[in-house]
Amino acid sequence: MKTILVVGIGTGSPEHITVAAIAALNQADVLFIPDKGASKADLADVRRTIIARFVTSNARHLSYAVPRRKAAEPDYGRGVDDWHGVLADVFSGLIDQVPDGGAGAFLVWGDPGLYDSTLRILERVETPIEVLVVPGITAVQALTAAHGIALNRIGEPVLITTGRQLGAVETDTVVMLDGQLAFLQADPELEIFWGLTSAPRTSC
Ligand SMILES: C[S@@+](CC[C@H](N)C(=O)[O-])C[C@H]1O[C@@H](n2cnc3c(N)ncnc32)[C@H](O)[C@@H]1O
Repeated sequence: MKTILVVGIGTGSPEHITVAAIAALNQADVLFIPDKGASKADLADVRRTIIARFVTSNARHLSYAVPRRKAAEPDYGRGVDDWHGVLADVFSGLIDQVPDGGAGAFLVWGDPGLYDSTLRILERVETPIEVLVVPGITAVQALTAAHGIALNRIGEPVLITTGRQLGAVETDTVVMLDGQLAFLQADPELEIFWGLTSAPRTSC
């Protein structure tokens, strides 16, 4: 059986990678690096920087082109489902490159459990694999640390949602994936703590 390591790498700073993530990357025979085109080359560069700095094995580096979701599909859920199906085929091809009994690793932005579809797509791959997840520092932790704030008020909930879903803000809210600049419609009285990128990052 092949092992697929889904490794959280933090959200841009190589300093945020964990000891467990470094160990997992060094255990892999093949490291998968997503290529989202020239406009997002910085995302692949961060992964290459992390590999150059922390991986001492002679693992193979395999770049793969990430297909784009059809934005024209009016049903968002169906569009994402179709896109994941295409990605599952891409992942199958990558997994074919892992030697039998060996391991391949996906370097996932932030943490694999927060607004990331790698685990869902791997569930659709038909090849029998063991999936192991290594947690990473999320954009949420990077944000609160940068501002020196706690995420929640004492005993209070926090909503994590996307710009697409952002309606009237009724509780403390973390807004991910705000490529549509939903914050422009938000109550001007709101206190907004910005993420660290110079422009809103919509995709990782
Ligand atoms: C596809 S989600 C990935 C989230 C990631 N799995 C995590 O744990 O943070 C991408 C969204 O995360 C947020 N994000 C990720 N990296 C960021 C960064 N360096 N600065 C600000 N926001 C970031 C943005 O809201 C972006 O649209």
